[in-house]
Amino acid sequence: MADFKRTLITAALPYANGPLHIGHLAGAYLPADLYARYLRLKGEDVVFICGSDEMGVAIVMKARAEGVAPQDIVDRYHPIIRDSFAAFGIAFDHYDRTTSETHRETAQAFFEHMDAQGLLSTKEEEQLFDPVAGLFLADRFVKGTCPDCGYEDAYGDQCEKCGRTLSPAELINPRSTLTDATPEMRPSTHWYLPLGDMQGRLESFVKSRFNWKPNVLGQVRSWLNDGLRDRAVTRDVPWGVPVPASVAERHGVNVDGKVIYVWFDAPIGYISATRSWAALQGEPERWKDYWQDETSRLIHFIGKDNIVFHCLMFPAMLDAHGDFVLPDQVPANEFLNLEGQKLSTSRGWAVWLHEYLNEFPPDLLRYALAATLPETKDADFSWDDFQARANGELADVLGNFVNRTITFAHRFAGSTVPPLVNPSETDRAVMAQLALFPTRIGEAYDQFRIREAVFETMQLARLGNKYFNDTEPWKTRAADPEACANTIHVSLQLCAALSILADPVIPFAAAQLRSMLNLSGVRPSVPAVDAQGLSWMDAGEPLLAVGHAIGDAVILFTKVADEQIAAQRAKLEGTGQSATVSEALEEATYAPVAPEMVFDDFAKMDLRVGEIVVAESVPKADKLLRLVVNLGFEQRQILSGIAAFFDPKAIVGKRVVVVANLAPRKMRGLMSEGMILMAEDRQGQLSFVESEGEPGSVVR
Ligand code: 2FM
Ligand code: ZN
Repeated sequence: MADFKRTLITAALPYANGPLHIGHLAGAYLPADLYARYLRLKGEDVVFICGSDEMGVAIVMKARAEGVAPQDIVDRYHPIIRDSFAAFGIAFDHYDRTTSETHRETAQAFFEHMDAQGLLSTKEEEQLFDPVAGLFLADRFVKGTCPDCGYEDAYGDQCEKCGRTLSPAELINPRSTLTDATPEMRPSTHWYLPLGDMQGRLESFVKSRFNWKPNVLGQVRSWLNDGLRDRAVTRDVPWGVPVPASVAERHGVNVDGKVIYVWFDAPIGYISATRSWAALQGEPERWKDYWQDETSRLIHFIGKDNIVFHCLMFPAMLDAHGDFVLPDQVPANEFLNLEGQKLSTSRGWAVWLHEYLNEFPPDLLRYALAATLPETKDADFSWDDFQARANGELADVLGNFVNRTITFAHRFAGSTVPPLVNPSETDRAVMAQLALFPTRIGEAYDQFRIREAVFETMQLARLGNKYFNDTEPWKTRAADPEACANTIHVSLQLCAALSILADPVIPFAAAQLRSMLNLSGVRPSVPAVDAQGLSWMDAGEPLLAVGHAIGDAVILFTKVADEQIAAQRAKLEGTGQSATVSEALEEATYAPVAPEMVFDDFAKMDLRVGEIVVAESVPKADKLLRLVVNLGFEQRQILSGIAAFFDPKAIVGKRVVVVANLAPRKMRGLMSEGMILMAEDRQGQLSFVESEGEPGSVVR
């Protein structure tokens, strides 16, 4: 039995600077919704909170790009985002926005409390200033070269290539993203969260969270190993929650134009949204039950780019403030790719939720995504997989089983649940297996293995379909009507169980199924006051009484046609690719990016420029060429599987890149002492990675 009384689930507040796509859904909102619905069906006390993140530089940049005010941007996208969530059945108890008055008050009070307790420090420092725009260059207002990995387009808050968090002053060759101006240095005073001093406490906190997912713990431990650095929590930017005047007086600093850093105020948005929810319930103090009572459990669903903020920075804030529970679980997902490529809003390589809904019902995408969530590593969404899951699993397995069952009940059981008389061993075995499903699926949800929960849910439908096939009621209806009635009875009980157990993943179809079965009295999986009724565990028992009348059959899932898939792909390719790429290339997909590695892994490779001085075929090995490569300091024999692509004579003299410290290995009886780097395009064509450097030059 759980030792907590209630659960607060949060899902990362999406920036209100654009519509949502499938990557958003798969990262945080869909798994959070499945989990929240599961808990509600179990009868647990749960509140599911989210809202639009409407502050910060991301919003200002979008506004500047369009020549409108930041408020216009958030007023445009907040309703679009909120409505997409609703249409997909993401059933928040409350969806708020961080431009609300409650949020401003809550964030300012939090900041004020920490400052008054001496939990923040202030520092005057030289900061980058754009003389053309007349603005300090915080976060995404400035780009430059990452001091760690050399990436030239690193932002002032984070290098998107190596993931390191940065402050603008650390960038090499900084330039303003607003005007392209070279910034000047000007002094400004800011408040800092002294994360360095909190390292020990945070280490103990993380140690106590041993059941966090490996991808989360890995990232968090690497941050802790690197040593935490103090982080500025105020900004000189023209949009955000203003730094409260009270702290200005305390420190004698003018705070005009200073705002609270968006990553300080946004997670407080979870608290302010819970406050607003409580007020709407007519119990304004009730938010405290979820945030300030040790018997409450806090769970943050996020994408992997938000891990440091939810696992270290926000816990540091909550812990330092002192009045709050700390996150119990942070089930962060990795990223979702689309057709083998990274999702990219700027290249239009995305499936937008509001556009999807014009073509297909929400349950199909919910199911396809939930079955392939990027829980342990990046995952790929493809339209082919979507179609296979919609047709081969939802329609052919679940939909087919339900349809056969209801149709047989109408035709051969007088539209009612027939009695189970002298059940066969098969009938009994299936009922016994059914009894195990609520626990089996529930355990997967309890451990945040949402994909597995969805798989086990479909297993129940598979069990039903197989049982129906094995018992052949179309034969027994004449030869053995009692056996036929038993099949219909057991199958109807399986359908009833499915209408509860599949509800988290396909809530719209589950509700339709309950109405087909005339099954009322199931507790809702969406927020409801005083929810009562049949619960998750009840689904293991027969739910339909003998003689219970069945409603009309409706088709739960219509098959997705090949043309619909082709149209989606054409649309993606039309918006997502340059018009000049050949048709053949358009068909091909990019290899997915390999899992992230640390710089040290890369640094282990010794790459050198080498000149090919000999190239010849290898007898009886039609793929291999034997090369002799001059590395300046020595010559190496290298065997390379490139014979199908190059005429040996044509490549002598080329200066290529060689992995010089690869352990030698024998191929076809010959030693190969290194490897030549090759670029492989989307159609599998190889080309050399060439260099003009002298042989022996180090490539890094
Ligand atoms: O990465 C993002 O989209 C942020 N807007 C997430 C904020 S989560 C929370 F802290 F509010
Ligand atoms: Zn970098």
